[in-house]
Amino acid sequence: MKKNLLLFSLISLLLISCGEQPIDKVIDRSLNVSMEQYMKMYDVMKENPGLLPRTLDTAGQLITARPNWWTSGFFPGSLWYLYEYSKDDRFKEAAAEMTSRIEKEKNNKGTHDLGFMLYCSFGNGFRLTAEKSYADIMLTGAGSLATRYRPKIGCIQSWNSRRGWQCPVIIDNMMNLEFLMWAFKESGDSTFYNICVNHSDTTIKNHFRPDFSSYHVVSYDTASGKVEIKQTHQGYSDESAWARGQAWGLYGYVVMYRETGFERYLNQAVSIADFLINHPNMPEDKIPYWDFNAPDIPEALRDASAGSIIASALIELSGYVSAEKGSEYLKVAETQIRTLSSDEYLAKTGENGNFILKHGVGHLPGNSEVDVPLTYGDYYYIEAMLRYRALPGK
Ligand code: GLY
Repeated sequence: MKKNLLLFSLISLLLISCGEQPIDKVIDRSLNVSMEQYMKMYDVMKENPGLLPRTLDTAGQLITARPNWWTSGFFPGSLWYLYEYSKDDRFKEAAAEMTSRIEKEKNNKGTHDLGFMLYCSFGNGFRLTAEKSYADIMLTGAGSLATRYRPKIGCIQSWNSRRGWQCPVIIDNMMNLEFLMWAFKESGDSTFYNICVNHSDTTIKNHFRPDFSSYHVVSYDTASGKVEIKQTHQGYSDESAWARGQAWGLYGYVVMYRETGFERYLNQAVSIADFLINHPNMPEDKIPYWDFNAPDIPEALRDASAGSIIASALIELSGYVSAEKGSEYLKVAETQIRTLSSDEYLAKTGENGNFILKHGVGHLPGNSEVDVPLTYGDYYYIEAMLRYRALPGK
């Protein structure tokens, strides 16, 4: 770690002498822009009771989300992070109010997205306030999510059966495991732990290709538990590497290594990270095209959300590997933060419909949320910056 720090200090000095703004200044400015944008967004949401911000339409008008939409937890979660950064009680009040809008989803057994919805919101709230009712809500929610575990398959079912898929499991589902691992630690119920380990192991077996890129959807035969099909839903093609899916997989295995200490999860995370950062189609500025195999690269759209998720995951992963590898990961994450903090991606105060980042891609093949702000891009961008600031010696 010491060697790591020395190398980083030298690089920082070199950058300052080249005239580049120090990263801590970049981050402070970006967090201040984030605070201004999201306080304005909160004012707008006060006029939209029961709803959460989602994105902008093609005319730049706000699209809201109901609490049962998978992204509902990101805006409250970002407000909690901004409260953590600023210690400003206005953010605490805003975060608590927006979090409360999602409570009823604790009983929702129709989605795998409860980790995103409840852990980003109530989870951050509980971490920062120790409010007991938040833990109760999350334990109920974790119980709801656990009903979607299919023992015959060894996975949590993502979507209900559709499009000819009996039991679709998407790589994104790795992101719900942090929530269940929290529930295991809070309740002592090993069912949650076993679900997470089984889901992670089955996903390693069936979702990944030899180069450590991942399929988006793997659907299983419910009677035999065997894989019935491997496809994409939001990516360019069944065999392509959809950028955000790769980011979810990376983040998920970093979390599973942190929570279990199992080397196989660290190895998986490192292999995914190396696939991403060494990919010939990873741009110099490190914000991925929406799909690593998009046919129109280099004209293809970038996905800021994938960039921010990868940055956040790499920063955590940098603490679990050798000094040399750690500084390689931090260098990529720092470039991602710098790029996202540039005028190309970061909103000017009062613009971008009060969202923070521009240029996210939600579901391009479905012509939905294409080149727009996305609350999850904002959430992981803030998280990445807070994680960077918290690095030893920063
Ligand atoms: N389903 C989550 C995503 O679009 O990444």
